[in-house]
Amino acid sequence: MNHMRENELIQWGTQVGTEIRPPVFIFLKGPLGSGKSVLARSIALGMGVEGAVASPTFNLLLTYPSPRGFQFVHLDLYRLNGPEDLWELGWEELGDRDQVVIVEWPERAGVFLPDDRWEIELDFVEEDESVRTILVEKYGDPATIPDLPNELNL
Ligand SMILES: Nc1ncnc2c1ncn2[C@@H]1O[C@H](COP(=O)(O)OP(=O)(O)OP(=O)(O)O)[C@@H](O)[C@H]1O
Ligand SMILES: [Mg+2]
Repeated sequence: MNHMRENELIQWGTQVGTEIRPPVFIFLKGPLGSGKSVLARSIALGMGVEGAVASPTFNLLLTYPSPRGFQFVHLDLYRLNGPEDLWELGWEELGDRDQVVIVEWPERAGVFLPDDRWEIELDFVEEDESVRTILVEKYGDPATIPDLPNELNL
């Protein structure tokens, strides 16, 4: 567990995007407004994805090519109605060799989770609305990502 301000989160996310090698799944957890999309966008930035990454809220899944020949695949499952929607999205085909798959609200996918993945959980702190806690958990054997920066002196 670590604490981050937005600029540090963006800096670390950009570094993740720069160093990440697909295929990899990164799941972003945490309540509404906790910073999942901020982190997703900074990973895209680090991958060199052009332009603003839209919120996939109404599309559930958006794919962007990176100049290195990777795909940035961004899902937001908040509005997923059930497992049927997952199949419609092509969930079981995700994780191709060239894909960096970033999933907000992965809890909505229920039991259909890949074995190898990072789960990153963001949350608010009571004392300061510009700070988030961040917890990085590794499941199975996903591609490496850079370590979190040193803890903030709050
Ligand atoms: N330390 C911080 N880290 C990340 N975001 C922060 C931080 N402090 C303030 N913010 C603000 O919090 C908001 C986070 O919004 P964001 O859309 O990333 O949330 P989200 O987790 O994706 O929410 P949703 O579940 O609705 O998709 C932004 O407006 C951002 O500017
Ligand atoms: Mg979001």
